[in-house]
Amino acid sequence: MAILGIEAVVYGAKDLDTNFRFWRDFGLQPLADGPEEKVLACQNGARLVLRHHGDPRLPTAYAHQASVHESIWGVDTPAAFDTLVADLRRDREVTIDSDGVAHFIAEGGIPMGLKVWQPKPFVSCPDEVNAPGRIRRLNQHRKWRLACRPKCINHIVFFVPDYVAAYEFFRDRLGFRYTDHSRGIGIFVRADGAFEHHNIFFVSMDLPISPEKPGFMHLSFGLEDIDELMLGVQRMQQAGWQQDGYNTKYGLCRHRISSAIYYYHDIPSGGEAEYNVDTDYVDDNWIPRAWEFKFGSLLWATQVHELWQGPVEMDMQFDPDGASIAAVKAASARSCSC
Ligand SMILES: [Fe+2]
Repeated sequence: MAILGIEAVVYGAKDLDTNFRFWRDFGLQPLADGPEEKVLACQNGARLVLRHHGDPRLPTAYAHQASVHESIWGVDTPAAFDTLVADLRRDREVTIDSDGVAHFIAEGGIPMGLKVWQPKPFVSCPDEVNAPGRIRRLNQHRKWRLACRPKCINHIVFFVPDYVAAYEFFRDRLGFRYTDHSRGIGIFVRADGAFEHHNIFFVSMDLPISPEKPGFMHLSFGLEDIDELMLGVQRMQQAGWQQDGYNTKYGLCRHRISSAIYYYHDIPSGGEAEYNVDTDYVDDNWIPRAWEFKFGSLLWATQVHELWQGPVEMDMQFDPDGASIAAVKAASARSCSC
């Protein structure tokens, strides 16, 4: 039984045409361009479905804001799908639509779906990287790219009321794996059939940038290499997409947690779209780690936010048994009982 990653994200947009143009410029392939629904896809077939905010087909759980209204996870076999649905039905409503998507509300109030899915094969072939004393491309220039084409949805991020409870639901009911913990801030979690460092990140609403209500933060797309990322950034800037949001003013950055190089764009109706390259890929041999937030979140940035100005102490411990998560849970229980 395995969940392979995100098969689709359903987004409620204030302006369908503007959002469609944004994602097309971002590099997704248009599949459908109707007046009520527009669909675009990554190279592995993962879809972005755009509907009007307020469309009655959208789940109501996140209806307080335009943005991601449902995330649908791809499951490898019908038997695995049936097993997951049967377990979810022990304590919550699950409805299965005519497309075979099982809709439910996850812990933290997050609308989710499950669907049997076979990702499309695709080829990544990044150029070798040269360095002084380490020649990997002799008499060979780097490829001349013509376009940025996101390969897959790498991960999604949500603000949730209780990030430990959200993680425990995904671990216990959907088989997700703990990969890293930003102490007091959030937990990075990987689907059992995926190798990305994380497919979902649950963020505490105690984070200073948190909105007033739970909801979507950003959606990340995997690219081949940094050339493809920077070509995408250039094309978005040439298309006139503004870069004045909270996250976009960081410029180009690399996380220490996950090692990913990343760049955010503001989605017109809310949240951010992330280009992601050179992330860590892990399996069940990975040993989770617990991090201080500032140390873990940033290795470098072309524009350093004031939060990271000055020295940041090295602070990371291996956390194979999730002791750091248990400590957060115990501290939360103590504060609730006072
Ligand atoms: Fe991200």
